[in-house]
Amino acid sequence: MSVKTIILAEDDGAIRMVLTQVLTRAGYEVRPTGNLATMWNWVSRGEGDLLISDVNMPDGNAFEVMPKIKAMRPNLPIIVLSAQNTFMTAIRASEAGAYEYLPKPFDNDEVLAIVARALAEVKTTSSEQDNFSDDAENMPMVGRSNAMQEVYRILARLMQTDLTVLVTGESGTGKELVAKALHDFGKRKKGPFVAINMAAIPKDLIEAELFGHEKGAFTGATNRSMGRFEQADGGTLFLDEIGDMPMEAQTRLLRVLQEGEFTMVGGRTTIKTDVRIVAATHRDLTQMVSQGLFREDLYYRLNVVPLRLPALRERKEDIADLVEHFLRLEQKDAKIKKKISTKAIDLLSQYDWPGNVRELENLVMRLVALHADEVISTQIISYELSLSKKSEAINFTPSSDLQAALEVYISKLLRQHNNDEVNGEIYQTVINKIEAPLISMTINEFAGNQIKAASALGLNRNTLRKKIRTHNIEIIK
Ligand SMILES: Nc1ncnc2c1ncn2[C@@H]1O[C@H](COP(=O)(O)OP(=O)(O)OP(=O)(O)O)[C@@H](O)[C@H]1O
Ligand SMILES: [Mg+2]
Repeated sequence: MSVKTIILAEDDGAIRMVLTQVLTRAGYEVRPTGNLATMWNWVSRGEGDLLISDVNMPDGNAFEVMPKIKAMRPNLPIIVLSAQNTFMTAIRASEAGAYEYLPKPFDNDEVLAIVARALAEVKTTSSEQDNFSDDAENMPMVGRSNAMQEVYRILARLMQTDLTVLVTGESGTGKELVAKALHDFGKRKKGPFVAINMAAIPKDLIEAELFGHEKGAFTGATNRSMGRFEQADGGTLFLDEIGDMPMEAQTRLLRVLQEGEFTMVGGRTTIKTDVRIVAATHRDLTQMVSQGLFREDLYYRLNVVPLRLPALRERKEDIADLVEHFLRLEQKDAKIKKKISTKAIDLLSQYDWPGNVRELENLVMRLVALHADEVISTQIISYELSLSKKSEAINFTPSSDLQAALEVYISKLLRQHNNDEVNGEIYQTVINKIEAPLISMTINEFAGNQIKAASALGLNRNTLRKKIRTHNIEIIK
């Protein structure tokens, strides 16, 4: 076997040296360079069997020459190295036809494994080109943590494929966002993106929603109606909350995925499907399979590529970027842009975010809407976080569980007071417990506007004022 030659274009001298050593020791011939011009020179002369390239070089951006390289040498595998570890870099690398994208710092063994794999496979297809702006404003996904890097790499690899993806992750981790990104940056981007949420549709209507129905198929079916499969033709079908799909619909879905065609409810003619499936769930499907609640065969059909999104508490280093992102989104048209102090960001990092990115997004929205200060202080943040923590601790629906919670509380109180002191104050203690948060939260909801709060509560303004005094409620405008 002949020795393979690797062209290594890397601006950083230290990385260039280490990689040269590692690759040479592994038996490759390495041609290192620190600039694009030399790299292009070699590549255009047909030299090298593989290219490893950094993105930002002293004489330009490697993404700019990649279309030329791809056009001239479509079968030259390219591995992109980048310290700019954003979603867009990963996507541009994949769009530029790069074989693999490696965020810095990387592991030398990993580089060797990828180089070996890339050289073993000969790429035959060249991908279509597209222009992407790299600006942060249009970046759909934010976060540069290692956990997100892994997600971006998987996404980048999936972009030019039609593989079925199963996205899992806790609520609010960005499952829908990922499904949309797979579509928007993938090869079906010109087709439709159609989403259907199994948890939001009555169980007996799911099949008709998915596959459509003929006129008169069931009571109430007064017209022929197109299903989501048909709507998504040529595009992507996002099956959200797939764990909530009833068994019968699962069986039908499995058949459609196996056969690539379906019939409408109440119809006879078969319709061919041409959709890319992305499914998502916050449930543990393997557990549901073992409990007999989810079809195992369907699970394997959907789980071709599993993609697990990390919880926000596993990547707290992304909080600052996310806050900045949401502040920008929220205040696109605002003249004075509010900021959050660095200390306040630290405080946000101490919280565990059970509602993940969505909870953080909601908090930022609330901060921008409710607080007038240009720099949002630690004090405000700790107040807002205390509200979040409270709602997390008492996780109940008002109608049923409030009464149960109160009963527990009152019975404790009664036992305590049987013996002594506060006898004669039980009534007021309990009422205060309810009234104080009711008043303070309602006022807060209306940004300190007492007239609106009084009207929402159905209280006289004077009464409200009196209660604010009694309970010593602090009003934050
Ligand atoms: N990495 C991210 N960068 C920017 N925004 C994000 C990111 N992840 C999630 N978001 C935002 O957080 C919100 C929640 O995301 P999304 O709806 O995709 O979550 P989900 O996992 O589908 O949640 P659920 O399970 O509750 O349906 C959205 O507004 C989304 O835009
Ligand atoms: Mg969702």
